[in-house]
Amino acid sequence: MKKHWWHKATIYQIYPKSFKDSNGDGIGDLKGITSKLDYLQKLGITAIWLSPVYQSPMDDNGYDISDYQAIADIFGDMSDMDELLAQANQRGIKIIMDLVVNHTSDEHAWFVEAREHPDSDARDYYIWRDQPNDLDSIFGGSAWQYDDKSGQYYLHFFSKKQPDLNWENAALRQKVYDMMNWWIDKGIDGFRMDVIDMIGKIPDQKIANNGPKLHDYLKEMHQATLAGKDLLTVGETWGATPEIAKKYSSPAEEELSMVFQFEHIGLQHKPNSPKWDYEKGLNVPALKDIFNKWQTELELGQGWNSLFWNNHDLPRVLSIWGDTGTYREKSAKALAIALHLMRGTPYIYQGEEIGMTNYPFKDLGELNDIESLNFAAESLENGRAISEIMDSIRMIGRDNARTPMQWDADANAGFSSSPQTWLPVNPNHTQINVEVALADPDSIFYTYQKLIKLRKENDWLVDADFELQETTDKVFAYKRVTADASYLVVINLSGEAQPFDLDIDYQETIITNTCEFEVFEKLQLQPWDAFCVKVG
Ligand code: NOJ
Repeated sequence: MKKHWWHKATIYQIYPKSFKDSNGDGIGDLKGITSKLDYLQKLGITAIWLSPVYQSPMDDNGYDISDYQAIADIFGDMSDMDELLAQANQRGIKIIMDLVVNHTSDEHAWFVEAREHPDSDARDYYIWRDQPNDLDSIFGGSAWQYDDKSGQYYLHFFSKKQPDLNWENAALRQKVYDMMNWWIDKGIDGFRMDVIDMIGKIPDQKIANNGPKLHDYLKEMHQATLAGKDLLTVGETWGATPEIAKKYSSPAEEELSMVFQFEHIGLQHKPNSPKWDYEKGLNVPALKDIFNKWQTELELGQGWNSLFWNNHDLPRVLSIWGDTGTYREKSAKALAIALHLMRGTPYIYQGEEIGMTNYPFKDLGELNDIESLNFAAESLENGRAISEIMDSIRMIGRDNARTPMQWDADANAGFSSSPQTWLPVNPNHTQINVEVALADPDSIFYTYQKLIKLRKENDWLVDADFELQETTDKVFAYKRVTADASYLVVINLSGEAQPFDLDIDYQETIITNTCEFEVFEKLQLQPWDAFCVKVG
């Protein structure tokens, strides 16, 4: 199997509004990101996945793009983007752009044209019907919006300001490929593809994801843009199974490098329920089953996993599955060790490497996220108590991940000099911040740094088979096995001591957050103990 740079890479996701503000307007920007590249180089990451920085009215914080080849004023301009690319590349850091081509903003020139001139070519770049059906928007309400001017409805699976593109239209597809090539020619190293499994939708049959032509489109896109170039492409595919993931990521298929699958994230809410009905506590046996399935079914050469706990749409993992109290640091390291030693490309979401947590939102006034606000409005209308709504939002709402990055203990955590930041800064920044993490050789930061280095330097992290080990419920243990070596990874995913009953022939410690010898001696794991040892 041909190896690519991304097999040994660790990717760091930046949410631009919240990373670092350079001009004192309370919103993060490109110059701010450039000013923190030395920090990212110290962490050791291979590439940044940059959430959207394109021109946008920011209805969905940039996932509503009005010009794919311009930068939003709040983030700077194209020369700032070029400077970020150049400065990152100088430090050996690649840039992966967010590609949002399931929909545009309603302020994109194509949609403006389509709306104003129903007989223009652009009309068919979007999806119009005389009558709506009962498809729902993911952000609440109907997926159809009436347009007075033409007397038709257009489809929007997200907000009204995010009309869905019609991928059936070949001219539209070509425009998307041209735009991708324009960015590739600039020197970027890949794309994270937003809700890419929706581009093959067939609204009249109520098919949103995994439509019949999806893979034809991706093959066409690959030939038109990616072929012959060593880029990383990762598709956001909420409904992927291992079978489906192979279609995207098997090298023979010539589509994408990998996909984000969300089966483990599904454990954050009750089965077959909306995400807001969150599940208290982690179902470790279910998590083990899911990881085992994905690790063994996506065999090397047949597909490739991406590994993540967090992103800008998810709660901070420590707040939902880790420990934000006594074991904050230890549980953060344990979760990192559990994830980064599996097969796949790991993704770190900004602030994860210092153990950032959810925000204690008091009321709706502190929120920005359109999804959370729509959920609250709908729930209030249905008579749900505000205390219950806020409880869900505090646990699951997307703004938890989006509060400003915590750089130091100063006012606004060193994120911005403005007294008013676009989302509030977490009050715990006085204890949880980059400055404190860098000063402590035992901090979460250095566990991440070590995991990234291990991946760069060791072929076994790519090649070795994955073998789940039989353990008690709360313990996740697996071996990575090659022809000449085995590595055992053991994690106590709980705040209680657990029996350790694996028979091991210890050779060498690879990484640990505990004293593993004490574990071997006492045959007991302490809360959130985690280690990887080479075994005979
Ligand atoms: C998925 C993105 O991650 C999310 O933030 C966004 O709201 C939707 N796609 C719509 O683009």
